[in-house]
Amino acid sequence: MIVAPCSMRTLAAIATGLSDNLITRTADVHLKERRRLLLLARETPLHLGHLRNMVAVTEMGAIVMPPVPAFYQRPQCLADVIDHLAARAIDMLGLPGAGTAVEWDGKA
Ligand SMILES: Cc1cc2nc3c(=O)[nH]c(=O)nc-3n(C[C@H](O)[C@H](O)[C@H](O)COP(=O)(O)O)c2cc1C
Repeated sequence: MIVAPCSMRTLAAIATGLSDNLITRTADVHLKERRRLLLLARETPLHLGHLRNMVAVTEMGAIVMPPVPAFYQRPQCLADVIDHLAARAIDMLGLPGAGTAVEWDGKA
């Protein structure tokens, strides 16, 4: 499961098991069933509560993946940035057919 974008509200709800809507309930089920859960947490700067919630979900098995743009692929437009972030997130799920994201080739 990918939560994108994952607000700090949703992050906090998942971190505390507050299953008060379909997203947070589904995320809770993914954690308890030990399925992969990716949170594209979107906030900056972060206060200690945000960081603690990220630690809590990571300890429970989730992957916190802030949607930070990569510049090594030299994006030409916003769609390139979004496509790359989406491909990386899908790759992280480890589904068949994944592995679509362009990776850094060591050249700047
Ligand atoms: C213009 C605007 C921008 C916002 N941007 C963010 C953001 O980047 N990250 C975040 O965690 N919350 C942001 N918020 C607050 C969330 O929208 C708010 O916490 C909301 O309850 C989250 O609901 P959700 O978790 O169901 O998406 C923003 C709110 C507004 C009005």
